[in-house]
Amino acid sequence: MKIFVVAGARPNFMKVAPLVAALRARGEHLRDVETLLVHTGQHYDAQMSDEFFRDLEMPAPDIHLGAGSGTHAEQTARVMVAFEKICVEQKPDLVVVVGDVNSTLACALAAKKLSIAVAHVEAGLRSRDRSMPEEINRLCTDVISDLLFTTDQQADDNLLREGCQQRRIRFVGNTMIDSLCRHLPRALAQPLPLGLHAGSYALLTLHRPSNVDNPKSLRNMLGAIQRIAERIPVIFPAHPRTAQRLAGTSLHERLLVIEPLGYLAFLGLMARARMVLTDSGGIQEETTVLQVPCLTLRNNTERPITCTMGTNILAGTDPREIVKLAMQVLNSPPPKGRIPEKWDGHAGERIADELIGWLQRKGPTADAYGRETRVDLLAPNASRAAR
Ligand code: UD1
Repeated sequence: MKIFVVAGARPNFMKVAPLVAALRARGEHLRDVETLLVHTGQHYDAQMSDEFFRDLEMPAPDIHLGAGSGTHAEQTARVMVAFEKICVEQKPDLVVVVGDVNSTLACALAAKKLSIAVAHVEAGLRSRDRSMPEEINRLCTDVISDLLFTTDQQADDNLLREGCQQRRIRFVGNTMIDSLCRHLPRALAQPLPLGLHAGSYALLTLHRPSNVDNPKSLRNMLGAIQRIAERIPVIFPAHPRTAQRLAGTSLHERLLVIEPLGYLAFLGLMARARMVLTDSGGIQEETTVLQVPCLTLRNNTERPITCTMGTNILAGTDPREIVKLAMQVLNSPPPKGRIPEKWDGHAGERIADELIGWLQRKGPTADAYGRETRVDLLAPNASRAAR
């Protein structure tokens, strides 16, 4: 059995690392399970990709597609074309995609059109905001995937409400939190940069197109952040797309824009921050587990459990409201949230067991619906026996 695990962009790497490790550990005992890591190349800078492999102690990708940047259609299409070729050549029995980036949808689509089974890790999250490219990626990936691994029960409910059959869904927990549990001690062993002390700074990330691509939205957001910087220094590792938009802008001296950080450096900074301000998805989950207050600078979240159970507050995008909420957080003792069920460091192992069990039950010749698979769709002369 050959399994492809796909990663493309920065937020994918910490989600696949525990899964690849768990699958390979099982593969050592079950000699017919082979796991290959495919990197689409959506993110390619050393700071957006290579450093993550090092920090997460991940093996180098077995296959690199080198897709790179572009418009959504260009990037998605490039990943699809390259991934389809690899699938036709290598004939995997199963493709595992994670998260909601363009590479997730591109590989799920390419695989499914070859009738290869697809599993989606982090399925069922919904912001109900279809202007977000990630929401389109989530919806489309979930509709076509055979197996849907969820991080919380609300995701299960979303899928069931959309008509998905229960038997496709597995509530397994959160592989991003597996990486956090494993690497937090190493992250905390690193000294804080810039002479910072624990609890004496805020940490900011901002890269959503809706916040940074429109100059007025970006100005409003930076206005609010600079008011907050008057009260507490704000460290801002800027994503390349945000850095491009910020070029030439002069900012408050206590709003410190720095290069994007690797996994360990960022985790260490986040774990010891007084407060985090972000428009990222994953950081809402990580701050919940770290019990660090988080203001999410968006009008919606696909991760509501981080607000109902965790330390996340959906702050919106109105600058006055953001400043007001930030001051409330800074004037209160750090909150004590609860950790969601199964965010316990073992989600990758649960997924690996489910996947291997499912593949063994399914056998190599039928997909999730019991139909003959057609991995050889583009090579009509290749016989299935050749697999
Ligand atoms: C992507 C994901 C987003 C995720 C984010 C995390 C989609 C639709 N979006 O957004 O969900 O939160 O990654 O980082 O997939 N760039 C570089 N170096 C790189 C990668 C990108 O300079 O290694 C620059 C390029 O100018 C590129 C831009 O950043 O055009 C945006 O990159 P892209 O992958 O298109 O989307 P992200 O904004 O990173």
